[in-house]
Amino acid sequence: MQKTRHRVLDAIADGPVPGPALADRLDVSRAAVWKHIEALRDAGFSIDGGDDGYELVSIPEFGGEAVEFGLDAPFEVEYHDTIPSTNDRARELADEGREDVVVLADEQTGGRGRLDRAWTAPSGGIWLSILLRPTVPPADAPAFTLAAAVATTRAAREAGVDAAIKWPNDVLVADGDGGQRKLTGILTEMEGEADRVSWVVVGIGINANVDAADLVDGATSLRAENGDVNRRVFTQRVLEEFHELRSNLDSVVPAWRDLADTLGRRVRVDTPGGEVVGEAVDIEFPGTLVVETDDGTVRVSAGDCEHLRPV
Ligand code: BTN
Repeated sequence: MQKTRHRVLDAIADGPVPGPALADRLDVSRAAVWKHIEALRDAGFSIDGGDDGYELVSIPEFGGEAVEFGLDAPFEVEYHDTIPSTNDRARELADEGREDVVVLADEQTGGRGRLDRAWTAPSGGIWLSILLRPTVPPADAPAFTLAAAVATTRAAREAGVDAAIKWPNDVLVADGDGGQRKLTGILTEMEGEADRVSWVVVGIGINANVDAADLVDGATSLRAENGDVNRRVFTQRVLEEFHELRSNLDSVVPAWRDLADTLGRRVRVDTPGGEVVGEAVDIEFPGTLVVETDDGTVRVSAGDCEHLRPV
């Protein structure tokens, strides 16, 4: 059942509702209605309490309740103003047996990137980790990373930023000078047995309403590209798109192809087995890059990819 707090918000969104009528409609006590209204005000919702009853006036720009309100995906959102790493917190929740929870933060003080790198995550970004318990084999897990890249790229384009995906999961924006700047990074972590994933944490770092000067070299932000976004709406769009894709994993690779910047380019991929250089010609489920090299076709399932200038 929908949380009572959401039902309070739904009820007062379309006009004033007197407290007693609200209590009747939601089948709770008047004291409970009052408690929910106060909690929502504390969370930043502006609610009028005039003679006609309670009326929702405005929704906060960010936060757990704000993102959950009107979200068309079955995620609970745990919000933190500041936290070391949303991925670390999601892993704790995984240990507690939770699923379909999103840990969201305004700022991270110990953000983690791929390959043990640090991830700069100042206040104003969208730093989130989605905890899932999918019934798939571990080998399929890269598809969730691709899904996160697709979801974020779609949301960025809706916000007027012409983003594209570099294999496997960097969301980039052209810098107008033949190069590209990084808008989003994704760090997927998981635990499982040979045949079955136990949990997956998909960590998405979106440089949203932050100055590019506060990020590492080579990074950009939504603010720098097209001005500040409404982070509540942006986060909802990412979660909704991600939910659609994870519900139909076969749809991920075709969607990724449509948004990819890597296909058709010369690439150098640093893989655990050595360097692969050639033209990236396709991607196969769950995220394998197909590269035409001088020595024939090579399939790469993991590695660091660099776009090379055409020869
Ligand atoms: C990369 O190296 O490109 C991946 C960066 C992933 C950063 C995100 S921010 C939210 C989540 N929490 C973390 O500590 N890391 C990921």
